[in-house]
Amino acid sequence: MKKQAPFVIANWKLNGGIDLTCTSVASMLNRKFEARIGIAPPYVYIGDMVSFLRNSDIMVGSQNVSKFASGAFTGETSAQMLSEVGCQFCLIGHSERRQVFLENDNSCHTKMEKALDNNLIPVLCVGENLQQYELGLTNDILYRQLHQSLPDLNLEGKELCIAYEPVWAIGTGKAATADQVQKVHSFIYQELVEILGTERANKVHILYGGSVNKDNVEELLSTPHVDGVLVGGASLDPEHFAEICALANKSAQ
Ligand code: PGA
Repeated sequence: MKKQAPFVIANWKLNGGIDLTCTSVASMLNRKFEARIGIAPPYVYIGDMVSFLRNSDIMVGSQNVSKFASGAFTGETSAQMLSEVGCQFCLIGHSERRQVFLENDNSCHTKMEKALDNNLIPVLCVGENLQQYELGLTNDILYRQLHQSLPDLNLEGKELCIAYEPVWAIGTGKAATADQVQKVHSFIYQELVEILGTERANKVHILYGGSVNKDNVEELLSTPHVDGVLVGGASLDPEHFAEICALANKSAQ
């Protein structure tokens, strides 16, 4: 069966600035992509990036979203605001948000609702840390994260991404192997069937993230149940990211 066009999402984290915004846009604009490319810069560059990319198919998204709609919540940005400025997707529950900012599955669930209500494609990040991996707890952790964040969402006519990001693979240069990824993504798919039913589960895009680069992206994207990639470090080099996108194009053809 021919795979759908894969997602390739760049997560800049707390990196980059107006220079990287301009060079990234410049390296993407004159190329044609089959893959569905998205860039999540820090909040303050979203507006510029949306206007620079307005004549392209490249999506702009955010790295986080508030669980609140409005009010006295200093430092927060709502899903409605993100949608208004032109974001098309938002990351939710990235492991750095969970570890450093103590986000949990409950807040992820609320953020999922807010994103869906405001027509943002939620990219829910899940994954085990090194200790959990070594203790063989990967499936238990994923089970909890998925079963607490996904039930009772109104997914009618909406798209949804799950990004499997083993914490031990993030920023370490040690990506999970295609074999490991295939096993975990099959488990995620099974759980999606249980939570959402087969028809909806078949429409969810399951992405892999953790040390993705131009040397491993093709193999990862040719792995069953891998519908895209979430790229951190390698997306900060515009040429490297454009190469990853071009390789993803090939897997879409
Ligand atoms: P990495 O980060 O590609 O630098 O490992 C991925 C992520 O944290 O989303």
